[in-house]
Amino acid sequence: MNEQSRVIVVDFGSQYNQLIVRKVRELNVSSELVTCDFLNKSIADGSVSNYDAIIFSGGPNIVTDEGALKVDTKLFDMDIPILGVCYGMQLIGEHFGSDLEEGIVKEYGAQTINITCKENIFKGLADSEDVWMSHGYEVTNVSDKLEVVATSGDDVIASIKVKGKEIYGVQFHLEVTDTINGMTMLDNFLTLAAVPRDYTMASFIEMETKKIQATVGNKGVILGLSGGVDSTVVAALLAKAIPGQTKCILVDHGLMRKNEVEMVVDSLKDLPIDIKVVDAKELFLSNLAGVDDPEKKRKIIGNLFVDVFDREKSEIADAKFLAQGTLYTDVIESGTDTAETIKSHHNVGGLPEEMDFELLEPLNTLFKDEVRKLGLELGLSHDLVYRQPFPGPGLAIRVMGDITDEKLEVVRESDYIFREILKRHDLYKDIWQSFTVLTNTKTVGVKGDERSYEYVLALRAITSIDGMTARAAMIPMEVLVEASTEITNRVRKINRVVYDITNKPPSTIEWE
Ligand code: XMP
Repeated sequence: MNEQSRVIVVDFGSQYNQLIVRKVRELNVSSELVTCDFLNKSIADGSVSNYDAIIFSGGPNIVTDEGALKVDTKLFDMDIPILGVCYGMQLIGEHFGSDLEEGIVKEYGAQTINITCKENIFKGLADSEDVWMSHGYEVTNVSDKLEVVATSGDDVIASIKVKGKEIYGVQFHLEVTDTINGMTMLDNFLTLAAVPRDYTMASFIEMETKKIQATVGNKGVILGLSGGVDSTVVAALLAKAIPGQTKCILVDHGLMRKNEVEMVVDSLKDLPIDIKVVDAKELFLSNLAGVDDPEKKRKIIGNLFVDVFDREKSEIADAKFLAQGTLYTDVIESGTDTAETIKSHHNVGGLPEEMDFELLEPLNTLFKDEVRKLGLELGLSHDLVYRQPFPGPGLAIRVMGDITDEKLEVVRESDYIFREILKRHDLYKDIWQSFTVLTNTKTVGVKGDERSYEYVLALRAITSIDGMTARAAMIPMEVLVEASTEITNRVRKINRVVYDITNKPPSTIEWE
């Protein structure tokens, strides 16, 4: 729990709940996602009054369902401003004596609301506003404790206010961009709740520096440096917070991209950090030989990373902490109370239970774009900070199935060619992540009048803001064909190239 947060967003299982946190932070207010259980405990021990406001997220349940997440109703007497979104509004509506019914017409997608009271959260807005709805149930028969402040469709209640309290509910998702003026509504709520706007990257650095100093004391820290943005930013943060106490270890696991190790070391040479490159290619590749299950691969890699760090521990006096560039998205995707595990990101779920280190994860409340801002604030170069993300397990999750030296070489070379072509056409900088994937599938082709039976290679390029969702990049067809021609000409074992046009969801960015 981050002690500085002013606003907590209570997670009722909505797919948009992290988005609410981000939007609140964009309005310069510290915020984080907490579970309903956390909220209820903090109501019981009174610590909830440390927060300036609370936002209830939406969720898939129906408030009246058995087992639906419920808030300790003492909260509603505590004078803490509350904003309920969808499920959150239904909780408020039910508590203050309204009914909840299945709507005759269910509202999903873009809708227009009619605002009946242009004060409070709707201050400064038009009589009608475009919003994004996603609900089957609705609040009806509002009690006299509530005021209806907006409606949609056939007099469906779209927003309520509790009379005499700073408690509001909206039936739509104000956090998504399809609710055109959602940010104004959120901004108005934070103003009504009198929440100070004091969250900036500079304030984050100041607070995190104190936290790191208090946690680490005079002990040593080992940082696993992958060369990606996240671990680089952690390195810069540690260099500032505890100068001279961190040893950065770049594990060359043989799963890096072409020339990567040299490039990483070179690009960090001006930072006041101590980097050691450990050649662990043999260790990783021998342990991964014959393993084809993606989750097993991740776990093996996670374990071996820690083994290597453990071995390097003797190099730094009093090394007690292992620092990692784990992000908020990694924490969420590795499974929270309500969100399912999508993948074990190696720097979270893949770590062994027993470790000789304490983890230090100073970025684990931040999203990728916030980490980039943090990097710039810490004085890192634009090029370094805007480098494409690269996963900890490296090329291991871009070779489907079992890994061999030969297959890794195919991915390494094709990745290099694809990258060069995107740069040649000035497309690289607009792409969030691009790479090649060696599918474990062979197809028939013809090379020099002879039948070939070789692998299919997939090109993947996506645009994204934070990696949580992504869209296939709209690369011109002729550039894709150029990549296919160069790759099939220059890389052995490939006779077919395809372009992955799937968004996330339903796919993930990586193939494994
Ligand atoms: P997915 O494939 O989950 O990827 O859509 C989202 C982002 O995370 C990166 N990724 C990882 N990063 N360890 C990491 O450090 C991992 O195990 C891992 N798996 C995926 C992926 O490259 C993308 O940027």
